[in-house]
Amino acid sequence: GSQGDKGSIGDKGTKGDSGLSGNQQNNLELSPYFLALTFPNGKIVGDKIFMTSGYEGNFDDLKKKCMQAGGQLASPRNNEENAAVQQIVFTHDKSVFLGINDIQTEGKFTYLDGKPIVYSNWQPGEPNNDKGIEDCVQVFSTGKWNDKSCDERLLILCEF
Ligand code: IPD
Ligand code: CA
Repeated sequence: GSQGDKGSIGDKGTKGDSGLSGNQQNNLELSPYFLALTFPNGKIVGDKIFMTSGYEGNFDDLKKKCMQAGGQLASPRNNEENAAVQQIVFTHDKSVFLGINDIQTEGKFTYLDGKPIVYSNWQPGEPNNDKGIEDCVQVFSTGKWNDKSCDERLLILCEF
């Protein structure tokens, strides 16, 4: 491209004196390399990249695949990250599992490391643990969350 130096790929950087992250300082999100790599399967939000490979499977399958790739299942921690997840779900017209569940203790949703969630975007009436078998979390194309059986087969969405 002709947009000048955007910094090097992989330079995620820590926040410096400017208060901006390395990505923001270098405008990596606008680099033609990132635009190409994230089309149409990924989204960059700050220092996080959400990416699907198109694979579909149950929660355990998807969790394992993300970890083997060096990432983890998407775990949006704020509205901006959830909007990125929503956009990928919408584009592919398939819902995804998050890296969030209440397998350990019914009603207590945690990240994969067991810590309690700091953000949620439940659909009204959810989570309802329908039929007593819903311990995983799917995202609809509206961006809203529903607890769902971990045995469902949904689209993979990892974060890196
Ligand atoms: C269920 C309903 C319910 C939701 C469950 C779903 P189903 O779908 O949409 O509102 O809370 O998670 O499984 O079983 O009626 O097709
Ligand atoms: Ca439910």
